[in-house]
Amino acid sequence: MTTTRTKQVPRLDEMTRSELIQYLKDTVKPEEGLIPSYIFSHPKVYELEMEKIFLKDWLFIAHKSEIPNKGDFVTRELGGQSVIVTHGADGEIRVLLNVCTHRGMKLCRMDNGNQKNFTCPYHGFNFKNTGELIGIPFQKVVYGDTMDKSTMGLKEIRHDVYADLIFATLDDDAVSLDEFLGDIKWYLDLAFNRAEMEVVGLPQKWNVDGTWKLGSDNTISDSYHTLVSHGSIAKLGLVPTGDYSKYGYQIYTGNGHGLNLGMPNPDGFAFPENLINEYKERLHEDQYDILKQMKNMIVCVSPNIMILISSMELKGQQVSHTSLRIWKPTGPDSMEISAWVLVEKDAPEEWKRLSEQANTLTFGSSGIFEQDDTENFTDITQNSKSPYHLQENIVYNYTMGMHQEPVENFVGPGIVYKDKFNEANSRAFFRNWLDQITAE
Ligand code: FES
Ligand SMILES: [Fe+2]
Repeated sequence: MTTTRTKQVPRLDEMTRSELIQYLKDTVKPEEGLIPSYIFSHPKVYELEMEKIFLKDWLFIAHKSEIPNKGDFVTRELGGQSVIVTHGADGEIRVLLNVCTHRGMKLCRMDNGNQKNFTCPYHGFNFKNTGELIGIPFQKVVYGDTMDKSTMGLKEIRHDVYADLIFATLDDDAVSLDEFLGDIKWYLDLAFNRAEMEVVGLPQKWNVDGTWKLGSDNTISDSYHTLVSHGSIAKLGLVPTGDYSKYGYQIYTGNGHGLNLGMPNPDGFAFPENLINEYKERLHEDQYDILKQMKNMIVCVSPNIMILISSMELKGQQVSHTSLRIWKPTGPDSMEISAWVLVEKDAPEEWKRLSEQANTLTFGSSGIFEQDDTENFTDITQNSKSPYHLQENIVYNYTMGMHQEPVENFVGPGIVYKDKFNEANSRAFFRNWLDQITAE
């Protein structure tokens, strides 16, 4: 029987590293709107991503309001490493590698809490919440005078904060957080600097059999799917019918970061009215003008953060909800989603409750929008594992909006397209991704 293979396609898992990098450069063509399917699940591509993106980029690990008091801590993951984000006894925030310096045991096994010290469950070395080693069981007996505890503190990881978002990086040579974020900060202000924001409870976490990249791709660009994938929501009357998801702007600010900004809001102002003065004080007037008209805003901070402001009617009023999530890769074809809900600290209690409810209904783990997108992400990831002889022919089309020119007169920074049905942001995201994973 003859083979169905019409053309010899190189097997990715047999390629050397430099062959793979060349193959990626040859086959991923963002500027032409051509993205091949294999990048969405191939283990060798995933290996490159881990090394060149997740061990190098600034990644979100916590919001400051999660650790408001001295002694508060949360444990999080950073590029596959467990870290403790602590509010130390000295008032400083630190990101500490959650690895005991004696023999490498995982020091803290809780998700969050308040502790002055952390005691290792293996041999009992005791560390202050500043990272300092302060106690060793039977120290005099077992070490005499030979142990210098001051050299045995927990490894501190580089971190920085913008708009109360704590980021960390495992790369000491990475550019500053300020430079990494660049112009996306102007839009992050709308989400996190418009008022003092606080996280509600703990992040929800759930697992999806889909690649993290589809989350970021959907976030940065894809308003187009809304009325089809989420069509049942329009039928229920929870969002306006018609092409509401088209109106607004698609904006790219560089370094893989971008957003879709839905405006105007036909239903009116969706934020707590008692905070209008605070919004005006904290935001530039152009930013406040956008907030006034905002229907929704979906921001991707590369590589894997989604920030969402959306609004819906609850109990007869427009209620916005603000959330942040990460698409954390757990394998070439799987991810863990962690999602935080934030509210204005000084909003009325009833409004905070409604805002959290609005988020749970729509984008919580069982939210009506969320369920639809999970199907999209899992199916696309599974379909990308096609046999090798098909892979060269399966190239996805990202050409939407290539005939359009950016607009010049928008008040905020970035490359801005009028209306949101466009794949310009995805093309830019994959260009940035490709440059990162193929960098020598
Ligand atoms: S590994 Fe932690 S005390 Fe030994
Ligand atoms: Fe969606």
